[in-house]
Amino acid sequence: MLDQLEQIKREALSSLEAVQDDEALAQWKVAHLGRSSPLMATFDDLRDVPKEERPAIGRGANQVKQALEASYEAKSDALRAAAVLQSLEKEHLDVTLPGRPVLRGRLHPTTQTMRRIYGVFAEMGFQIYLSREVETDEYNFQLLNFPPHHPAREMQDTLFVDSGTERGDNPILLRTHTSPGQIHAMREFSAANPDDPPPVRIILPGMCYRYEQVTTRHEMQFNQIEGLAVGEHITFGDLKGTLSDFARRMFGQQVRYRFRASHFPFTEPSAEMDIECFVCGGEGCSVCKRTGWLEILGCGMVHPIVLQNGGYDPDRYTGFAFGMGPERITMLLYRIEDIRNYWANDFRFLEQF
Ligand code: PHE
Repeated sequence: MLDQLEQIKREALSSLEAVQDDEALAQWKVAHLGRSSPLMATFDDLRDVPKEERPAIGRGANQVKQALEASYEAKSDALRAAAVLQSLEKEHLDVTLPGRPVLRGRLHPTTQTMRRIYGVFAEMGFQIYLSREVETDEYNFQLLNFPPHHPAREMQDTLFVDSGTERGDNPILLRTHTSPGQIHAMREFSAANPDDPPPVRIILPGMCYRYEQVTTRHEMQFNQIEGLAVGEHITFGDLKGTLSDFARRMFGQQVRYRFRASHFPFTEPSAEMDIECFVCGGEGCSVCKRTGWLEILGCGMVHPIVLQNGGYDPDRYTGFAFGMGPERITMLLYRIEDIRNYWANDFRFLEQF
């Protein structure tokens, strides 16, 4: 019977060698260590063995059982290790392969320009004031001293949300410029202390809308950055100094610029600022339409009526304001020829910035 046990063990171990996967291993366990395996049958047969031989055979059977169990554990570990190795091999990295390019998100070119402009004015002590995009006729025009029949107020130029005629009220419209924010800001600041309103030094960025035929140079929506400084003894010299400094910080120390007289209902006197065309260096080219100059903003001293509408006594306070178009400045900086690129969402355009 001991020989038989030896035989059982040999057969079990040799068939274990052939086992290659978990499923076969489970089957092996049933066949060789399970309830109806030859080994277990030997334990049952012990009953019929003469009493004096029983201990030796019992011990022998137990040793075989332990040997098979140990081999089973060892095989199971070996299979697990082999599986790990296999998966490592399958997923192995070829470190000599060239890297995959990572797609980087980027800011829209206008956003980049606007943030640069914020930085320049922040250094000069201007805070950002956000004002609404949906306005009343009163704020967009009346309080800014637009005369009743000014052409800008007509349907051709303004997108109306609600004509107001049915309500017998103020028309509601999409702001055509950021200037109505001047009134909101001054009113908010002066309301805090009506007898002694604090000085104002803010920029007001945001989207504006006009009822325009979209062309290479005109869009229905565009950003503006408005600037407003109100205080005692503010002069046109402060306006020129601030904007000259802006131009140098934005376009470089060597930039040449000029102020031209202009007209806006809400500033008096009014001007426009040009910088020397940096494409042709003033020689005249298609970008500057052969003039050698590029217009970058409108500006002026805040009209006394506007100061008054904002709660600032024009006998005591003066101020300057300006408004610029960051899309236009970006077009000049990067020589972008078609303003429609800004809203086309074409990666070939956006990826260049
Ligand atoms: N609001 C004017 C425009 O849209 C620009 C401007 C702002 C001019 C402030 C003077 C002062 O053209």
